[in-house]
Amino acid sequence: MQQPTSPIGVFDSGVGGLSILKAIRKQLPNENLLYIADSANAPYGDREPAFISKRALEIADFLYQANAKAIVVACNTATVVAIDALRANFTIPIVAVEPAIKPAAAVTRSGVVAVLATSRTLASSSVARLCERHGDGIKLMLQPCPGLVEQIERGQLASMQTQALLESYLHPVLSAGADTIVLGCTHYPFLEPQIRAIAGNSVTILDSAEAVARQLQRIINQTNPNHTSNNPTELFLTSGNAEATQGLISKLWENNIKVQTIAQILPGITPD
Ligand code: DGL
Repeated sequence: MQQPTSPIGVFDSGVGGLSILKAIRKQLPNENLLYIADSANAPYGDREPAFISKRALEIADFLYQANAKAIVVACNTATVVAIDALRANFTIPIVAVEPAIKPAAAVTRSGVVAVLATSRTLASSSVARLCERHGDGIKLMLQPCPGLVEQIERGQLASMQTQALLESYLHPVLSAGADTIVLGCTHYPFLEPQIRAIAGNSVTILDSAEAVARQLQRIINQTNPNHTSNNPTELFLTSGNAEATQGLISKLWENNIKVQTIAQILPGITPD
């Protein structure tokens, strides 16, 4: 049975979902948060849908057993593959992320919008639906960015290789006149300074983190008791090597935190 102190569970293939977790912490300052990085299996982008679905269901089951009051799928790729299965299998509220195509269509002045995401996200029917619904009269350029998630997982935010990848993905869309860039992968906000440096100050860069946090707040207000502690906790878990992940999560979370493996917390129901 969920209590006010029950955590909100948030997961991603790796560290990308921390960009969503930050917005959640800001929007819901009193809630206990439980973050799972499926680092042993990142990136999801190149994996078969059946594998991503299986992982999403296993992690959701773990969060359910940890008594989570809501689950946030902080991964666009897991959302497009597994959201229907997740909603069919769990009764607790599930909030998912999707690329910010709708707000981008509303703000573009040049009428050209670039959507950066994993190949799997961009090839999905959910993104096709978003493009159909909001793409009238504008040009939506779907730009897959293979390799970027790996660079971020390695902590290589400002390396020459990351810079070269970003330039190769951004130059075509910028020269086509894109004035709005949608970050359709939760890892990419951690590269926003590098993207800004290439794209310039006149370009609008949008991600979905605040929208997800607001949606989560609405759902928590409707369905669950709020937590009003002055001392909320954040628990960081990984399916990979805790020591290897701890430095990177601390850096991205901008605070020194401890990362534990899933097995250390709930032995016996370890997804692997
Ligand atoms: N953060 C995930 C997303 O939003 C990255 C996917 C991956 O692991 O390839 O899509």
